[in-house]
Amino acid sequence: MLTQDDIKNALKAVKYPGYSRDIISFGLVKEISITNGTVSVTMQLTASNSDAARQIQEDSERVLKALPEVKQVRVEVRQPAAGQAPGGMPNQNRIPGVKRIIAVASGKGGVGKSTCSVNLACALAQLGARVGLLDCDIYGPSIPLMMGVHERPTVSESERLVPPINHGVKVMSIGLLLDNDQPVIWRGPMIAKTIQQFLFSVEWGETDFLLVDLPPGTGDAQLSLCQTVPLDGGVIVTTPQEASLGVVRKGIGMFQKVNVPILGIVENMSYFTTPNGERVEIFGHGGGQAEAARQDIPFLGEVPIFTEIREGGDRGVPVVVSAPDKPPGRAFIQIAEALRKLLA
Ligand SMILES: Nc1ncnc2c1ncn2[C@@H]1O[C@H](COP(=O)(O)OP(=O)(O)OP(=O)(O)O)[C@@H](O)[C@H]1O
Ligand SMILES: [Mg+2]
Repeated sequence: MLTQDDIKNALKAVKYPGYSRDIISFGLVKEISITNGTVSVTMQLTASNSDAARQIQEDSERVLKALPEVKQVRVEVRQPAAGQAPGGMPNQNRIPGVKRIIAVASGKGGVGKSTCSVNLACALAQLGARVGLLDCDIYGPSIPLMMGVHERPTVSESERLVPPINHGVKVMSIGLLLDNDQPVIWRGPMIAKTIQQFLFSVEWGETDFLLVDLPPGTGDAQLSLCQTVPLDGGVIVTTPQEASLGVVRKGIGMFQKVNVPILGIVENMSYFTTPNGERVEIFGHGGGQAEAARQDIPFLGEVPIFTEIREGGDRGVPVVVSAPDKPPGRAFIQIAEALRKLLA
C-alpha cells in the first residue's frame, strides 16, 4: 500500500531549482492524496516564479510516476498572486542588489543569536561573499558592540543611510542612530517603520548575504521583517536543553506560518572544555540535532562554550576574525560553509 510517507520520500529527490535543498525540506508540499493508484499533490511556492513552478512540477511528476503502484499523477504547484506574497502579505519587495536575506532567530532570549549573527556574517565575508548585517533588535541592539562599530551612519546624496563597515561587513542598527543608553519605548507601528527603512533606505549595495539578527520571541520585529521582504530562509539558534527547544519549536512554527524556509538549526553552548581537557555538557548535548531530525530540517552545526567567544563579543572583534584557525572560530566557519552551500 502506497502511503503519504512514500510520496514524501520520493519527492525528497526533487530540488528547488537553483538550491541544493529539496522541496520537502523547504516545506512546499501542502497536500497529498492517494486513491486507487492516483496520486495528487498540491504545493505552494513562497514567491511567484513560473519557471521554478514548471520545473518542480515536471520533476515531481517524473519521480512519482517512477514509483511502483502509481498509475496516475497530478501535481499542482500554486504561486502567490502577482505582487502578493504568501499568506496574503502585500507589499513584499526585494531589495535591489541584495541576493539573499537570512534571518537568525530563536523563540528564546540569550541563546546566542547575536553572537552567531556576527560570527557567521564575518565568516561569510572571509569566504569571499559580500555581506551585510542588520540588527532588528530595536529594544536591545547588541550588534554595534559585538561588531566594534561605533560611528554613526552617514547620509548619501540620495538621502539614504550609508552603513559603516567593519571586519568586511556592512552594519546597520538602531544602536548606531540613538545616543548611548537611551531606552527605546516605541510601539509596534514604529518598529515596523524602522525595519522597513533599514531594509529599503540603507545603501546595502551589491550584497550576497544580508543577515538579520532578530530579537528573542515572535513579536513585532519578526512579523514586520517577514511582511516587508521575502526571506530566503531562517537560521534557528538554540541551546541543547529541552527548556530552550520548546521555544525553538515556536520560532520554527512562526517561520513556517509565513512560508519562510528554515535553513537549519545551530546548537550553541553545546559543551564546555575545562583547561585540563575535560568535556562538560552544561546544558546537556545533542538536543539541537535531535530536534532538527524530528522536524526534518538540516542541522548546521554546534558551537561549544568558549570564553573567547564572549570576550570577542565584548571587544567588538568576533572570534572568527581574531582567531579563525582556533576551535571557536572554526566552529562558526564550518556553519557558514554549510549555509553557503545550502544557498548556493
Ligand atoms: N558559544 C558561546 N560561548 C561563550 N559565550 C557565549 C557563546 N554564545 C553566546 N555567548 C555569550 O552569551 C551572551 C548572550 O549571547 P547573545 O547576546 O549572542 O544572545 P542573544 O540570543 O542574541 O540574546 P538576546 O535574546 O538578548 O538578543 C553574550 O554575552 C555572549 O557573548
Ligand atoms: Mg541578541
